[in-house]
Amino acid sequence: MNKIIAVCMLALFTGLLVFGQEGNAQNGEKLFKANCAACHALDKKLTGPALKGIVTTLSAEGADKEWVHKWIMNNEALRKSGDKRANKIFEEYNRTAMDVFEGRLSDKDIDDILAYTENPPAPEEPKEQQAVTATQDDSSNSIYIFVSFASIGIILLFTLYKVNQLVQLKTKGIVLNELQATRIKSLSQFYNKYKGFSYFLITLLLALSLYGVWAWLMGIGVDKGYEPEQPIYFSHRIHAGENKIDCQLCHSGAKYGKVSEIPSLSVCMNCHRNISEYTGKYIEPGKSKEFYTSEIKKIYQHIGWDEDKQAYTGKQIPVKWERIHNMPDFVYFNHSQHVVAGEKTIIADYNKKHPNQPIDVVCKACHGAIDTMNVVKMANDFTMGWCLDCHRTTEVDMNNGYNAAYFNKLHEKLKKEYGEDKSKITVDAIGGLECGKCHY
Ligand code: HEC
Ligand code: HEC
Ligand code: HEC
Ligand code: HEC
Ligand code: HEC
Ligand code: HEC
Repeated sequence: MNKIIAVCMLALFTGLLVFGQEGNAQNGEKLFKANCAACHALDKKLTGPALKGIVTTLSAEGADKEWVHKWIMNNEALRKSGDKRANKIFEEYNRTAMDVFEGRLSDKDIDDILAYTENPPAPEEPKEQQAVTATQDDSSNSIYIFVSFASIGIILLFTLYKVNQLVQLKTKGIVLNELQATRIKSLSQFYNKYKGFSYFLITLLLALSLYGVWAWLMGIGVDKGYEPEQPIYFSHRIHAGENKIDCQLCHSGAKYGKVSEIPSLSVCMNCHRNISEYTGKYIEPGKSKEFYTSEIKKIYQHIGWDEDKQAYTGKQIPVKWERIHNMPDFVYFNHSQHVVAGEKTIIADYNKKHPNQPIDVVCKACHGAIDTMNVVKMANDFTMGWCLDCHRTTEVDMNNGYNAAYFNKLHEKLKKEYGEDKSKITVDAIGGLECGKCHY
């Protein structure tokens, strides 16, 4: 029995240890996905060679880790320096230029990436939801849980050990010598004296760990501030802000239905066929014109556009944008209801509540000032409470054709009952709080 308990505790410990740990390879995986996965896979050739075990492979060919670092930092400079290997691989890949990562990655980042390519973790079942909802705060909570469980575990193990010792003495029929007898006596005195305290301690630790679990559960699905890196450094600030491009030029789905959609690369090409270099005045601290230009070239690599010949090659690699906003499957949210039918009243209600930061575009009521963000960040909780709050305070626009036709009778009735100015209809009055409206 004791052994079983001990084994269980051990398993719990190791589980928690693994859970709480974040190694280099893990960070490397993130960096790899954000920076390299557009052109490299681990085990097959894409635009560039397969990278699994690349350090081992290259060192067998006489190129050490330092060479790999130099290559990744700035392959262009390495090639220009006359390095034979660098020029050979460049020719082998039809002179396709790899990105320059100087200023974007540190040496430590590269070490992390290489740790990942040397020892990639075994592929898991994809856990999309978790990957999306994992936020930084999780780690502090898991430390809570870990420390509390660990302390309880240590106390339990110690007690088990002591009890076990006693039982063994008893079963072997060994008569306690004086020293042992006094020890046991003092132990039981000690126990009696501090019983209250130890109960208190265990209760406190249990409460702490329960709090940790609770806080962690509450955090699931609340991703305010979630701001992943994207495979192409696409800046909303530069497009929607500096160049004042209309949100719906790219997110054209918003007015027709449920999803806003991420634009396809052919939408990008409408402009970037001609805009192949960045010449704008705005440059984010830490970035450069060359950097922006290299990001524009990524569009060409992905869609298969040969700039020299000004023609499509037919070779396409889809861009894997990281999804940021993602409601659970059981929620029905429809953009057009908000962007078309609700547009006027949502803007009016928002501006009444935020007189200092009025908005002109309805999207900003929910997504925040996207046109100032270089990297999209979730601006709100996107929880049920958040939806309901707005439905309780925002009026329904009785002047739009749809509502006028459907709710005219209700409006007339309310007008009669409450008088003209008290007849304001907020979204909750037309069913905006009904479970079935938002849940399948
Ligand atoms: C835009 C596409 C692109 C991106 C992004 C990219 N690479 Fe490459 N990479 C290439 C190509 C193409 C080659 C082959 C050599 C050449 O044509 O320059 C290459 C070659 C390499 C090599 C040399 C392999 C050899 O056998 O010598 C290494 C190492 C490498 N890449 C690592 C990385 C890492 C790490 C990242 C991310 C930090 C990355 N690459 C991002 C396209 C890319
Ligand atoms: C030139 C095209 C373009 C314009 C204009 C544009 N976007 Fe985007 N938007 C994108 C692309 C590409 C992505 C995916 C990459 C990213 O997240 O940055 C995106 C992502 C988003 C996302 C996050 C999607 C997700 O994954 O949940 C939101 C929200 C968004 N845009 C809102 C807006 C708003 C609001 C405006 C106007 C102020 C706007 N966009 C203007 C192209 C555009
Ligand atoms: C309506 C025209 C238009 C569309 C559509 C468009 N862009 Fe741009 N893009 C621009 C302009 C203008 C600039 C700034 C160029 C300058 O100032 O020299 C730019 C700059 C960029 C840059 C460099 C700055 C930055 O944001 O990092 C990238 C990368 C880029 N675009 C990617 C994309 C992608 C990806 C898409 C498709 C999802 C896209 N663009 C769609 C007009 C457009
Ligand atoms: C009433 C709040 C609200 C308004 C207004 C709104 N959105 Fe959204 N947006 C959401 C929610 C909620 C989601 C998540 C939807 C999901 O996961 O099903 C979302 C998701 C998105 C996405 C990710 C892709 C998708 O459709 O799931 C993009 C892009 C986006 N919105 C752009 C826009 C643009 C552009 C506008 C303005 C034209 C806009 N949104 C107006 C609440 C809003
Ligand atoms: C910024 C305010 C705002 C937020 C936030 C908001 N809504 Fe709405 N919603 C409205 C308005 C205004 C309408 C009424 C549109 C109309 O005139 O038909 C509406 C209507 C609806 C309707 C149709 C109701 C009916 O009876 O026809 C649904 C369903 C809905 N919203 C779902 C959601 C969900 C799900 C969320 C959260 C993810 C959400 N809304 C967040 C403002 C908001
Ligand atoms: C205006 C839209 C809206 C209405 C009305 C609504 N819900 Fe929700 N509900 C949501 C959204 C959005 C989520 C997802 C929240 C998240 O992911 O954090 C949600 C989540 C839930 C969940 C999952 C638990 C959670 O918090 O994540 C339950 C259970 C639920 N709703 C029950 C109900 C019931 C019961 C009603 C009717 C009394 C109702 N909802 C009405 C939008 C709505």
